[in-house]
Amino acid sequence: MSNSVFKCGAVAALNTQKSIRKNANIYAIALDGPSGAGKSTVAKLVAKELGITYLDTGALYRALGLVCLNNDVDVKDGIAVENCIKAVDVNIIYEGGVQTVTTDGADVTSKIRTPEVSMAASAVSAIPYVRQKLLGLQRGIAEKSSVILDGRDIGTVVLPNAEYKFFLTASAEVRAKRRFDELTAKGQAVVYADVYNDVVTRDRNDSTRAIAPLKRASDAVEINSDNMTAEAVAKYICFTVNGDIL
Ligand code: DC
Repeated sequence: MSNSVFKCGAVAALNTQKSIRKNANIYAIALDGPSGAGKSTVAKLVAKELGITYLDTGALYRALGLVCLNNDVDVKDGIAVENCIKAVDVNIIYEGGVQTVTTDGADVTSKIRTPEVSMAASAVSAIPYVRQKLLGLQRGIAEKSSVILDGRDIGTVVLPNAEYKFFLTASAEVRAKRRFDELTAKGQAVVYADVYNDVVTRDRNDSTRAIAPLKRASDAVEINSDNMTAEAVAKYICFTVNGDIL
C-alpha cells in the first residue's frame, strides 16, 4: 500500500468537503477504479459495517450488455445498442445484503459475470445513450440514503460532490489473478492468459473512451491494493468516514 494513503492531510481534506445534498444527514462514498481492483468486495464490507446502501454500478452496464448479446446486437454499434435497450427497464435491488439485477423484471444476476458479458459491458458503456440512461437511476439511489457506489466515473461524473472519494488500484497482474480465482471458484473454465488480456483490454477501453472515462477524481484518495486485503481497504475507508478506529 502506498504511504500516501494514510496521510492525515488527505483524510482531513476529505472530511471538510462541502456537501450540496438536500438531506444533510446522508452522505455518499464514491469508489472508482479499474476492473478487478476489488471494488465490489470492499464496497460490500463498507456498506455492511456502516449500515449504508451499496450500489454496484457495473452490474447495470453488464445487464444492458447482456440484453444486447441476447439480441445479437453489435455492442460497438451505438445506434443498434440504443434501439435495443431504449425500452428496457433495468433495475437493481438489495435485500438482506443480496443484490438482484433485473431487466424488464427478469432476474439476470447469475448471467452477468461471464467474460463475454464483461467485454460487452465495457463496449456498451462507451455509448453516450447508455451512460445517460443509467445516470438518473444511480443519482436517484444516492439521493435517498447514505450510499457507497462503485464504478469508473462515480467521483468524476455521477456524484462529483460525494463527501468521500476513493480510487482503488492494483497492478494488472494482481487484478487478473483475482479475477481468475473468482471465475475458477465459480466453476468457470478460464485460462489465466485470457483473463489477463481481458483486464488489459478493458482498462484500455474504459480509460480511453470519450465520455466519462475511468479516471481518478482530483480530490479522490488513491489506494493501491496490491498488498492489501479487501478487509484492510474497507477498514481504511470506514476509518476515514467514521474518523475512528474500528
Ligand atoms: O465494475 P464492472 O467490471 O462490473 O464493470 C463492467 C463494465 O461496465 C466496465 O468494464 C466499464 C463499465 N462501467 C462503467 O463504464 N462505469 C461504471 N460506473 C461502472 C462500470
